[in-house]
Amino acid sequence: MCRAVLLLPLILISTKFTYEIAPVFVLMEQLTLKKMREMVGWPNGEGDGLFSPGGAISNMYSVMIARYKYFPEVKAKGMSAAPRLVLFTSEHSHYSIKKAGAALGFGSENVILLSTDERGRVIPADLEAKIIDAKQKGCVPLFVNATGGSTVYGAFDPINEIADICEKYNLWLHVDGAWGGGLLMSRKHRHKLDGIERANSVTWNPHKMMGVPLQCSAILVREKGVLAGCNSMCAGYLFQPDKQYDVTYDTGDMAIQCGRHVDIFKFWLMWKAKGTIGFEQHIDKCLDLSQYLYNKIKDREGYQMVFDGVPQHTNVCFWYLPLSLRGMPEGAERREKLHRVAPKIKALMMESGTTMVGYQPQGQKVNFFRMVVSNPAATQSDIDFLIDEIERLGHDL
Ligand SMILES: *Cc1c(COP(=O)(O)O)cnc(C)c1O
Ligand SMILES: *[C@@H]1O[C@H](CO)[C@@H](O)[C@H](O)[C@H]1NC(C)=O
Repeated sequence: MCRAVLLLPLILISTKFTYEIAPVFVLMEQLTLKKMREMVGWPNGEGDGLFSPGGAISNMYSVMIARYKYFPEVKAKGMSAAPRLVLFTSEHSHYSIKKAGAALGFGSENVILLSTDERGRVIPADLEAKIIDAKQKGCVPLFVNATGGSTVYGAFDPINEIADICEKYNLWLHVDGAWGGGLLMSRKHRHKLDGIERANSVTWNPHKMMGVPLQCSAILVREKGVLAGCNSMCAGYLFQPDKQYDVTYDTGDMAIQCGRHVDIFKFWLMWKAKGTIGFEQHIDKCLDLSQYLYNKIKDREGYQMVFDGVPQHTNVCFWYLPLSLRGMPEGAERREKLHRVAPKIKALMMESGTTMVGYQPQGQKVNFFRMVVSNPAATQSDIDFLIDEIERLGHDL
């Protein structure tokens, strides 16, 4: 009785600083991370990794590890021991990289944004030009963040070309696959991440595309030992070296947290239940559904796509034009009106309680809808319904 009562809280709140506290969960985590590294393409799944409280934190880990790899003295002496370091990321980047730059003492001004093409993919030549420019200004380029599935457009950066530049200038390459990492499970779609095996670190959030309940995000590192080197403090009350078991299983010292939530159990269980094939079907189905949406609206009266061509991920970005805007000439008035359409339709959706689709502006582009599919239980008739709703609520605005 006592044991049964104890089991549930143990799974939910157990902490993972050391092997002896949560041996099964530590082993599950090690196994799963190895499997994920194999899928990234690192030989024998070698390397390190951790589950962290989300993609933003996993990305922050990547910046910390890169700094430790090139300037280990910062760990003890602080940023004054390093030259002025700069980080590069796409102008379509999730804001987490700027946040990491600020929080880790690089300064958000030392996060340099890279130009992208019309589909939101980083332009490699722009990266090289900005590296050269930063060096001329006396800065030291440290880190490039390439995206495997950007948040708004679902764009995949050309990782191989970026990796060539990182090798040439000796920079750390991180691939943020928080959103797109799940495509590694799909034989049909994993080519979009070609070159990811050349990354030094990878963020992959099973809690996004793969439908694992929040929170479940992994930071994967190709070189073994840097993560521990960067973060370990060897606290004598937890991480004694003279225990009766192999203390390399005390992975907790690689984390910046002390106690950690057990994020692995639900993912491990899901993987066991669905298999890699099950995740593949899940991913393929979501991508098929978004292509179905794209095909339905790309030439449909009243719709305009934000960028041309089949979306790379499940992100379908589009404007809906109420009747009053169709045929209106391009210009400030149309822009202003169009900017207000998506927020208005979304508000009406919420008032009707039928559906809800996010919107945002991007660069010079006024508010547009961004529909993403990550739930494999969705069907084509849900997509049909969505289109009907947008037209019902928006036609006469
Ligand atoms: C969502 C997202 C993140 C942040 O992940 P959280 O788990 O929400 O912290 C980082 N990068 C990309 C590309 C994302 O889409
Ligand atoms: C990397 O860039 C992508 C978009 O290009 C962004 O979504 C992500 O948050 C960035 N992450 C880091 C660590 O820079």
